[in-house]
Amino acid sequence: MSVAGYPAVLAEGDVVLRPYRRSDAAQWSEVRRYNERWLRPWEVTPPGTWEETNSPAAFRIVRRSLKAGVRAGESMPFAICLGPDRLVGHIGLGNIVRRAFSSAYCGYWIDSRAAGKGIMPTALALLVDHAFSAARLHRVEVNIRPENKASRRVVEKLGFREEGYHPHYMYIDGAWRDHVGYAVTWEDVAAEGGLLARWRRIRAG
Ligand SMILES: CC(C)(COP(=O)(O)OP(=O)(O)OC[C@H]1O[C@@H](n2cnc3c(N)ncnc32)[C@H](O)[C@@H]1OP(=O)(O)O)[C@@H](O)C(=O)NCCC(=O)NCCS
Repeated sequence: MSVAGYPAVLAEGDVVLRPYRRSDAAQWSEVRRYNERWLRPWEVTPPGTWEETNSPAAFRIVRRSLKAGVRAGESMPFAICLGPDRLVGHIGLGNIVRRAFSSAYCGYWIDSRAAGKGIMPTALALLVDHAFSAARLHRVEVNIRPENKASRRVVEKLGFREEGYHPHYMYIDGAWRDHVGYAVTWEDVAAEGGLLARWRRIRAG
């Protein structure tokens, strides 16, 4: 199996979303290790130390597992780059469900050294539009810890709908954490020419 619309390269200005490459190992590991304190509160609890689970060797295992998710038709992972090669983050669709639901979850993170420049809303808008076109999905959902103000700002700026509160929803940073559920469907953005078009208008003020 594979995922409709993948592999793909999506770009807006110097923000480029592309599949991971074997040669990303050193850069991925440097960014992940540098950002332990920045990322840890919002991520699935790793089975070993941060150093171990974010080493160049661990990248090979992570990439293999991402590729297995693609082969199973369940996920669509992208490295976020500035220009073709400066890796600054990750965004991906997971838990892709087809048929009458045609929905997926979206997860993301960015290097703290690249934060605050609107890179993630741009990446999310690119991915949502791709999900609603080439990937033939109808809905994208983002679940965020209530305390994660920066991430909530990303979806709120793009106009995602806040749909629900999920107590003890995911095992994050060592405990079952509550999450706020946000979503967008094709109907929400179709008349505006897509989410990226909406985001461009918002940025232009
Ligand atoms: C959430 C995250 C992806 C946002 O990405 P981004 O590219 O910085 O997004 P934006 O530039 O739109 O900034 C979003 C908000 O972050 C906050 N912010 C801006 N610069 C910041 C900085 N240097 N440090 C911390 N927060 C900052 C602001 O509240 C901003 O909202 P505003 O535009 O209303 O001012 C990023 O903060 C991150 O990776 N955090 C750690 C991992 C994480 O939370 N992942 C998501 C789990 S659901």
